Amino acid sequence: MPVTIGIPVPTTVNHVPERDAKVIKILLDTKIITIFAAAGRKRADSPRLSRMERNLLTHNIIQMRRKIVAGNWKMNTTVPEGRELAEALVAELPNVPADVQLIIAPPFTHLCSAGKAIEGSAIALSAQNCADQAKGAYTGEVSAAMLKSIGCGYVILGHSERRQYYGETSATLNAKMALALENGLKPIYCIGEKLEEREAGRHFDVVKAQIEEVLYTLTPEQMSQVVVAYEPVWAIGTGKTATSEQAQEIHAFVRKTIAAKFGQQIADDCSILYGGSCKPSNARELFARADIDGGLIGGAALKAADFIAIAQSY
Ligand code: PGA
Repeated sequence: MPVTIGIPVPTTVNHVPERDAKVIKILLDTKIITIFAAAGRKRADSPRLSRMERNLLTHNIIQMRRKIVAGNWKMNTTVPEGRELAEALVAELPNVPADVQLIIAPPFTHLCSAGKAIEGSAIALSAQNCADQAKGAYTGEVSAAMLKSIGCGYVILGHSERRQYYGETSATLNAKMALALENGLKPIYCIGEKLEEREAGRHFDVVKAQIEEVLYTLTPEQMSQVVVAYEPVWAIGTGKTATSEQAQEIHAFVRKTIAAKFGQQIADDCSILYGGSCKPSNARELFARADIDGGLIGGAALKAADFIAIAQSY
């Protein structure tokens, strides 16, 4: 008689650490276990779980949405400084909880050297942007395929600084998103309202439109590759952080908006990061919230000690 385990179908074996995935696969193949689509997010402390489910979750054999701490270096550091920073993070990695995925997003010029520094470690490499064209006569641009070819796993798309200073629109972002996904990069899609929009009480509408205009064009399979970062523009680089209540309120809304199009399971599996003056002193309170799955960190990602302290805030 097979035992049924609640592993959300879209995550299943793909999100499970490789070694454990093999075990699960053998159990599946030999029909010792079967898998069904579990409704809602499961937590190791949920009273509704069977003992076996709890054990699998506790030991990370099945994993729900990932905790992510991503460092957006923006246009900072020289190549040697960037390499040093990446090396310092690798050295500190044993002090970071194993279930927290660290990502660094250095400038384009640093991707090779910083990538080399983190090679073989659990830190993933991200770019801060990619071109909206596949290839060709686009002087100064860097394509998604180029980024993939040097080991990037992620690309930040739609950062408010790109929307604001470089005129990125939803149309541009649709093209970038499609190219990133076609080339096997996971987009970290940034959304968030400006100060005047929040003051006018329009923050939910703004965020909803940013989701609908870009993410709603994706297939469910593509959507399951996307990480979302909610970054209220008024909190970026200003020292003003959204309160954890404000952030949780929007994160829950973002998840609901994703669920409305793609279903609860994909929404539950999507990591939604908070960004905007996130630092060691406020990360713990933010990350404790049910729908905040980590952070996209700007200024505090430039100091290894601060970035690591943030990653330790779970
Ligand atoms: P900040 O930037 O942490 O410096 O506010 C966050 C971001 O823009 O990603």
